[in-house]
Amino acid sequence: MRVLLLAHAFNSLTQRLWVDLTAGGHDVSLELDIADPVTLEAVALFRPDVVVASFLKRALPEAVWRKVPCLVVHPGPVGDRGPSSLDWAILEGVPEWGVTVLQANEVMDGGPVWASRTFPMREATKSSLYRNEVTEAASAAVAEALAKLDARESPRPQSEARAVSRPLMRQAQRRIDWTTDDTATVLRKLRASDSSPGVLDEALDLHWFRAFAAGVEGQGAPGALMGRDDTGAVLRETRDGAVWLTHAQPTKPSADAPDAKPFKRPAAEVVQASLPLVRDGSRSDITSREVGDVALLRFEFSNGAMATADCLRLRDAFVEATRRPTRVIVLLGGEDFWSNGIHLNAIEAASSPADESMRNIEAMDELCRAVIECTSHLTIAALQGNAGAGGCFLALTTDEVVARHSVILNPHYKNMGNLYGSEYWTYLLPRRVGDAEAKALTQGRLPLGAAEARRRGLVDVVLEGTPPAFVDAVTARAQALASAADFAERLAVKRARRETDEARKPLAAYREAELARMRLNFYGFDPSYHVARYHFVHRLPHAWTPLHLARHRSDAWKRQQLLVTRGE
Ligand code: COA
Repeated sequence: MRVLLLAHAFNSLTQRLWVDLTAGGHDVSLELDIADPVTLEAVALFRPDVVVASFLKRALPEAVWRKVPCLVVHPGPVGDRGPSSLDWAILEGVPEWGVTVLQANEVMDGGPVWASRTFPMREATKSSLYRNEVTEAASAAVAEALAKLDARESPRPQSEARAVSRPLMRQAQRRIDWTTDDTATVLRKLRASDSSPGVLDEALDLHWFRAFAAGVEGQGAPGALMGRDDTGAVLRETRDGAVWLTHAQPTKPSADAPDAKPFKRPAAEVVQASLPLVRDGSRSDITSREVGDVALLRFEFSNGAMATADCLRLRDAFVEATRRPTRVIVLLGGEDFWSNGIHLNAIEAASSPADESMRNIEAMDELCRAVIECTSHLTIAALQGNAGAGGCFLALTTDEVVARHSVILNPHYKNMGNLYGSEYWTYLLPRRVGDAEAKALTQGRLPLGAAEARRRGLVDVVLEGTPPAFVDAVTARAQALASAADFAERLAVKRARRETDEARKPLAAYREAELARMRLNFYGFDPSYHVARYHFVHRLPHAWTPLHLARHRSDAWKRQQLLVTRGE
């Protein structure tokens, strides 16, 4: 089928549908929801059999759904209606939630149902549930809906009697009363509001985002800020305990930078108070655990973004792991993300973003070098969550890349203002996939599903299962590798290969050539990277759809259509 994806942004769910539908043999193109005439134009150009609205912030134009069947992915079970579905589900603590694929009509979320799925709720942020359970359910439900549409089946009308319409959740419902709300309520309100729109704190002039229970006793002053930790989280007392608040965003520009639009930062940098360093109940973003001969190095940086200090701390933790008498080191990443490369928010906040970009990429390269040069252990990158840009290439520094089946990879930098990229990608990518494929991947700028990434040589093994089952399976795999009869031989082959590669072209030469291009990105005449980063960090809406996604607008596609029409 010819499927037009329509979305407010090419977000994780939309990327997953792009990957799945393409793999399913559909002809897929995407239009970002910018304005009704633009959407209508896209429909006229592409002439889709079906429009799939994966992530919209407003209603579909009537002129579109009257012309083409439009399937709307609603992040709620059958009968649920409204723009804040997941937010309400989290706030009310429901045990089960769902996704419904319905056909757009004049009733918002009230159209007939093509397919639906349910899932048990987890104590997690809205964005984490969206990226995992909702995306998984949506992928299955959209596949079912398209199969039924193709088979000319009809959707099931919704029962008006069972419909539950809920309004947009406002700050009034999200508001935390620090004197009366207990820890569980505080966490529910924050989880329902992360990553957007956050919980407004009028007294401190900021929005709070991520948090976790601190598991410490309060001192009897609910609402009091008790301290900060090394990661920039702030400890705040609740009625019956305390929470660590990790991220915040000021509501208005600071007095010393009145023109700078605020964006999300570590909470301690946003709270205008000097707080004592506290470690009680604080959560480390890097932890190491040994299971027999296997070291599991977990790193859970928020949104997978790795600031200069994060890269260096992870490098140190890795080097420390190589000094232990284990045999295999597994780089586990976090549940939601493996890595998304250098930390664009931290860079944007720096007094010189160009200098901080340089420091951050150098630190990332130091981490990559430590893994590439490790010849004492075999290494595995275990991707439970998605990886993008430099984060993807960090995974390729290891001896084996294992990905969970639902992972999406974006092995390219160009979308960030034509960034050239480093992380030794010019060494790592061609040696894995060859020159032609390396060029196709980096220039193509498209997301890859785990299965396709394996087919194209970027990933070695794909494993099914939930994140915990995946970690168990990877651990078992690493243990088998550590105790394999040919372990010493494999290590010797790895050493020999590194020596040969180094003799052919030293790692330092790859790095220097990549960084020369990066210096142009950071300090050169063309400001594209700085502009793209500003847009990304401030989450500015798109003004047009990039042509590699809006295939119906590209010359190549138009030419191909002309040939098809002419029967050539
Ligand atoms: N630095 C800072 N924040 C980052 C980040 C980075 N490198 N990569 C992702 N994020 C944040 C986003 O700002 C967003 O934050 P929010 O949810 O708090 O608003 C969150 O992570 C999720 O990102 P989003 O773009 O919504 O996720 P996605 O799954 O839809 O898209 C990517 C995934 C990888 C395509 C996209 O995040 C991306 O392009 N990231 C930048 C990669 C990059 O260019 N890195 C620098 C070069 S190495």
